[in-house]
Order: sequence, then structure tokens, then C-alpha cells
Amino acid sequence: MCGIVAYIGPKDAYPILIKGLKRLEYRGYDSAGIALLNGSLNVFKAKGKVSELENLVKNADLSGNVGIAHTRWATHGEPNDVNAHPHYSQSKNIALIHNGIIENYASLRKELEARGYTFQSSTDTEVLTNLIEDIQINEEVDLLEAVRIALNQVIGAYAIVVLARDDKDTLIAARKGSPLVIGIGIDEYFVASDASPIIEYTKNVVYLDNEEVALIRRNKDLKIKTIRNVEKTPYIQKLEMNLDALEKGGYEHFMLKEIYEQPHSIRDSMRGRLHPELGTISLGGIIDYEQKLVNAAKITIVACGTSWHAGLVGEYLIEDLARIPVEVEYASEFRYRNPIISEKDIIIAISQSGETADTLAAIELAKSKGATILGICNVVGSSISRATHAGIYTHAGPEIGVASTKAFTAQVTVLTLMALRLAQLKGTIPKTKFLHLIHELGLIPDKVEQTLKGSKKVIEIAEKFKNVRNFLYLGRGYNFPVALEGALKLKEISYIHAEGYPAAEMKHGPIALIDEEMPVVVIATKRGTYEKVVSNIQEVKARKGIVIAIVTKGDVAVKGMADYTIEIPETEEMLVPLLATIPLQKLSYHIAVMRGCNVDQPRNLAKSVTVE
Ligand code: M6R
Repeated sequence: MCGIVAYIGPKDAYPILIKGLKRLEYRGYDSAGIALLNGSLNVFKAKGKVSELENLVKNADLSGNVGIAHTRWATHGEPNDVNAHPHYSQSKNIALIHNGIIENYASLRKELEARGYTFQSSTDTEVLTNLIEDIQINEEVDLLEAVRIALNQVIGAYAIVVLARDDKDTLIAARKGSPLVIGIGIDEYFVASDASPIIEYTKNVVYLDNEEVALIRRNKDLKIKTIRNVEKTPYIQKLEMNLDALEKGGYEHFMLKEIYEQPHSIRDSMRGRLHPELGTISLGGIIDYEQKLVNAAKITIVACGTSWHAGLVGEYLIEDLARIPVEVEYASEFRYRNPIISEKDIIIAISQSGETADTLAAIELAKSKGATILGICNVVGSSISRATHAGIYTHAGPEIGVASTKAFTAQVTVLTLMALRLAQLKGTIPKTKFLHLIHELGLIPDKVEQTLKGSKKVIEIAEKFKNVRNFLYLGRGYNFPVALEGALKLKEISYIHAEGYPAAEMKHGPIALIDEEMPVVVIATKRGTYEKVVSNIQEVKARKGIVIAIVTKGDVAVKGMADYTIEIPETEEMLVPLLATIPLQKLSYHIAVMRGCNVDQPRNLAKSVTVE
């Protein structure tokens, strides 16, 4: 969602800010803007992509070595030039960028209107900007204090950066809910929604915590205090990410690059954790909580979207191997449905970005009831990774494509490790089976590599079905979440309606949709419920549906029935999701490209959903 970049230092701010906005494009947005201070405080804003903003400012004076920039994902007010950020205060002395939602903006706006303020936009952000100005004038305080006082009156979520016309040496940044990171260079500071705009300039960063305000001054030390006025010592961390991870590296799209990175990213998720030669698994991040997990009466997994699908695979794995009951909840439902949670409970929150507002709120709710919260996150230092008691990073590397691919397989890998470790500790599977499974898991990266080879078949299928209006995805057991994930991938990037179902549920409704025009993707891999799935395929064929089957290498039965088959290498049933997902990712990708869709930044979607 909205992206924030700010710079103060000796260099020209404009190129740094524009490059930073481009690095944040993956988050999803519909307008962009920039404010530069060079004696006068100039704001430029444009609906559409960052390139529109670049066109707009072609002949403008872009000098200035302090500035703020923003990509907006519309919440209050439609995406247009006026609602884009930065927003000026009434006197035009202050410019402000904001990510989040000010929930009480309507009442604040009324009060400000009563005091003579008029508003240009429909945004909550302009209200906050004027509130800060009003406080500064009426209470005769400096900008930092005005921001701090204003934030005490605000209900909602925010990450903001504020710049004032009469102070070219200061930026004020603050956050609650929405993320903000400050990069510390030599004589310069950067502020951004995540580390991607900062990484090429410095690796030293400070992640602001909730309700913290930062005073960022040219050539002076960074100062941080809470909005309740308590001084904090900035905790400087080293970024581990490198710049290559943020580039396309010769691929046409980030999504394609990330699909092809999976042998590597899955290996990284297992590195230092899976030891087939020693016959063991070590999960350092949750070592202090292992006994609690082993003795848990129940585990609840909370997540959204693709991470929720990974959670479902996790449920099957943990129940199957470690015999601990698991419930998987949409974080957005969990947070509002008064769940029964106590200090005995263990919650596992799964999130690629580590910033998903609903997942964060679910964590806070469970925490308030005394539960133990473990995280499975990809982004190091993210809000969720810091809000949990302990956790395991997936180490998939930055995922830029909005459609999650390598993050999913990394999450499933970590959940597999966790389930196996718990099974080992609980003694719920025989040692020989454990050793066999960890050996098979170790082979997965190579098998993913084999699965990725050759796209001819997938491209042929994509070509054939690129213009259909609906797709159905079916799977059973471990392949049911794979069906859900395949359908989500297709709809989010190609805008073709797709539904995922447990294959046996088809006869309870979706079968009515099947005719000679309906492509049905069936994950029909060997073992488990293979024979049952074969029957489901027959049910589809009997109604003239078109079957595209994902099968185990060497399969004969399904090949004889399906219209198209894609083979994946043989593996243990519970490891199949790590392989079967891959052709479905590729199918969605190729269909979307053929339809001319913006694969990396699909319409209306944001990479990290920081509002509820
Ligand atoms: O960052 P998170 O894993 O918490 O994000 C959750 C969902 O927003 C995310 O998985 C979304 O569904 C993706 N666009 C799926 O490709």
C-alpha cells in the first residue's frame, strides 16, 4: 500500500526520491507525489504511475536537498491529483505524506473547519496536516511538538513524514501501525516504508516502533521519543538484504524471477535448520517455545491470502505428523469474532510482508488474552516479526511481485520443518519415517528445479485458455490448499474468475458450472486420495468439462482421461504442495502476460495490506 520516501542530506533529493518511489511501486498505488524544499516548498502530484509524475515535473525546478515523496493507494477519496500526497497545510508552510487511515478524521475536520480551515481534498491526511499546523500556531510549539500533540488526538494508523517550509534542516517522522524505517548514511538520512529505497545508500537502519516520533536533523544525531514524550535510544540495525535482490536480473517480470528463484529460496528456508546427515531439525528462532508447542492442546494459525493457504498446509502437516490440533483462521475474521483464547493458547501468525494490518490486529488480540504468539515472516524487522514472542524467518528474500510465489513455498517449507520437529520431539512418528521425510525434504529444491524446466506445455495451455471467463481448481488433502492458491494466483494477476475447491465438494454445487467451456485444473498426484481424485476427474469428463491435470511423473491413469497433463517429480504426499504449486504459478503468469495484464502490479492490489 502507500509508499513513503524522504531524504535529507548533501545530495539532490529529487533523483533519490524518484528512484525510491520506483522501488516501492511493487506495494501497489494509484497516484504519486513529491515535495522539495529549496527556499520555497514545492509540491508536485499526479494520478497514475511514477512516470506520470516524472512527466509532470519535466520543466520544473527540482533543486533541493531535502524532500518527501509518496505513492498513494486510495482509501479516503478517489485516486486523483488533488487527493495524492504530499498535502500542504492551509498556509502551505507544512507538507506531509501519510500511510494509514485516520479513523476520527471526520470529527477533526469539523473542528478545524469551525476554526476557519478549508480543505482541498477528501483525504484524512490533509486533516492531519492542518491539525499539526493549527497546534503549532495556537500552542506556539515547534514542529516536533506539534506533531507529537496532534498524534495524541488521532485514532487510527499512520506512518508520516513532515517537512516545513521554514526549516530546511529537519524532517519529522512518526508511525503507528504502518511501517517506517530510517536509514542512517554519512551526513544524510533516508526514511521509507521499507528498506528497499534505502539499501543502495546505507545498511544502517532504525525501525521506528509504534507511537514513536523521530526528529531527523541535518548533521545531527537522530532523536526519537514516544508520542507520550518519553525519550528513546535509537536501536541501529544492519540490513542483510542486497541490491541484486531488488532488481529483475534479466527476467521480464519480478514474478517470473521469483518463480524461478524457488529452488534457491526453499534451500535458504532450510539452511542451518534441516540436517539430514545428522537426522535432525533445529529451529533456533522458536527453541524456547518448543516444549510449549509439544504440550499445546491446540495451535491457531492466523494469516491472510496466500499466507492463509500456507497455514492450511501447515494444519494438515502438524496434525498429521505431530498430532496437535490446529485451527487456521482468517486474521480479519479472528480479530472481530471474539475467539476463545487464553494464556494456554499458541498462535502462529504467518505473513510475507510482516505488515498485514489484520494479522497484526489478530496478534494484538491474542496477546491481550495472554496467548503465546509465534511468527513466520519473510521481511526481517517487520512489524509482525517484532510483535511476536518468537518466530522463524522464511528467508525467501525480497518478494516484489504482488502475487506471492516464493514466499508461499518458503512458508510451507518452514511449516514442514516445524511439523517434523514437533513430531520428532513428541515421538509421534517412527524414527525411520522421520529420517525418510527429512531426506525427501532435502531433495525438494532439486525437484523444484526439475519442475521449473520447460514451459512449452504450460504456454500451450495458457494460449488455449487465456480468454475464458472462469476456471475451477480442484484438489484433495494436501492438494486442496494448492487448488485454492492456484485459483487465487490466476484471479489476482489475470482477472479471470477462478475458484478453488476440495475436489469432493464439487458435487455439492460447483459441478453445476461444468460444461464443455469450463477448464478444471485438478491436482491429481499419486498417493493419498489419488483414486478418489481420479473419480472426480471422471465426473468432470462425464459433463464434458476440460481437465488440466497436475500429475506425478509416469502417471498413466489420469493421462488417459485428462485433456492436458503437466508432470511433476514424485515425492512424499505431504511435500507435494511444494512442487504442485509451481506449474500453477507458471500457468497464471503466462495467461496474465498473454492478456496484457500488469503482472507485477495487478490492479487494485497492494503488496503489503497495511489497512484493514
Ligand atoms: O504479507 P502477507 O503474507 O501478510 O500478505 C497476505 C496477503 O495479502 C497476500 O498473501 C495476498 O493474498 C497476495 N497478493 C497473494 O498473492
